[in-house]
Amino acid sequence: MLHIKNGTLVTGTGLEYASLWIRDGRIEQIGGELPETEAIDASGMLVFPGFIDAHTHLQMDTGATRTADSFETGTAAALSGGTTAIIDFATQERDKTLREAYETWSGRATGHCSCDWGLHMAVTGWNSGTRRDLESMARTGVTSLKAYMAYDSLRISDSDLRSLMEAGRELGLIVGVHCELGDEVNRRVRGLLSQGYTQPRYHPLSRPAEVEALAVRRALQLAREAGAPLWVVHLSTGSGLEEIRAARKAGQRVLVETCPQYLTLNDDVYGRDGFEGAKFVCSPPLRGEEDRQALLGALSSGEIDIISTDHCSFNFAGGKDLGRDDFSRIPNGLPGIEHRPMLVWTACGLKPENMVKVLSENPARVFGLYPRKGALLPGSDADLVIWDPAGARVITANDQVQNVDYTPWEGFMASGSPRQVLLGGELCAVNGRVIRSGRGRYLPRLAVW
Ligand code: URP
Ligand code: ZN
Ligand code: ZN
Repeated sequence: MLHIKNGTLVTGTGLEYASLWIRDGRIEQIGGELPETEAIDASGMLVFPGFIDAHTHLQMDTGATRTADSFETGTAAALSGGTTAIIDFATQERDKTLREAYETWSGRATGHCSCDWGLHMAVTGWNSGTRRDLESMARTGVTSLKAYMAYDSLRISDSDLRSLMEAGRELGLIVGVHCELGDEVNRRVRGLLSQGYTQPRYHPLSRPAEVEALAVRRALQLAREAGAPLWVVHLSTGSGLEEIRAARKAGQRVLVETCPQYLTLNDDVYGRDGFEGAKFVCSPPLRGEEDRQALLGALSSGEIDIISTDHCSFNFAGGKDLGRDDFSRIPNGLPGIEHRPMLVWTACGLKPENMVKVLSENPARVFGLYPRKGALLPGSDADLVIWDPAGARVITANDQVQNVDYTPWEGFMASGSPRQVLLGGELCAVNGRVIRSGRGRYLPRLAVW
């Protein structure tokens, strides 16, 4: 029996100094004494259940380019930073079925992942077969959906979104919405480019805060009409948050996700010299300091349920620079899968028992994985992060595991870091280095809504 000894266990209900015993990949017992065959001394350490990143885009082709991280490199990076499970987005092509999208993504991931993985389904249209497909997806363990209100190749109409939400309610699936009004974005992009404003600094002007807030309002209205809960993905604004507050006050069920980039960076970065601002082009864009503070406030008051990365990495050279003459051609997305726990630990002012909620317990509950994941309970998978609360580390692209040529947090001084990471009871990463790879398994998930 593997004995994790002398550590302080962290769960959403508090901290407990106790032994943790592992057998056959699962937690056998908390506390007490059992026959020990092996031990890890966690003196001075916090012991978290493995972190879950519920919003990643790995091995994705945009048409013009592809993401820098594959499932192989992205999940190794995740594991090195303390993330033991991810949920990536399989994305339906307009003329194909959900099953085909599932097969494509599953084919890319199976046998290549270093942490456990599941899939959401991004649905790009509604037709007579979609409901049946959703039932089949749910049986396969894909129990959460995403719809886009922006991006011409992905977005769906409001009426299709309502149909999707109604089906989600009937089948117990949660629908996440990318809240930006596509027509508003397109109009602004055209206007800026026609005046010769082509540099990265114009990207945030093409998608201002009100474009998100109005979309959040609309998505809330559609969810209300459908009688469905709503997952607002990658929330970036205080004004969007206000819409959610009002809806919650009126009794609506809304889950809020934000990302480390909206909590730690602001839109000053778009003014950096030359083309450097392109490194921060994502949608929704980084916001002003007021928005960042509003999100940090909401995090400390418990109004934010989940912090995911929206990891969508493109190299600066050969990726982001496709948009040198036109900011709208810069591939959208930031890398963060490796560094999320260190960023949140250092910059978000959360107590460990609150950090574990937004990084592990809540995503496990929301996405049908609890208590297999997100918990330190007998029977839970023995996915553990042995966290050094004083383990200072500097984030730099030079020694990152993720396969991308920059990090938005170059030079960031983390005040704590993962010392050991266990996946299914096996020690798989030590001090940011993966020592056992390729052990990730598919996670079929329950429909819990
Ligand atoms: O810029 C971003 N966020 N790219 C990834 C796709 C998405 O919208 O989540
Ligand atoms: Zn999105
Ligand atoms: Zn995303």
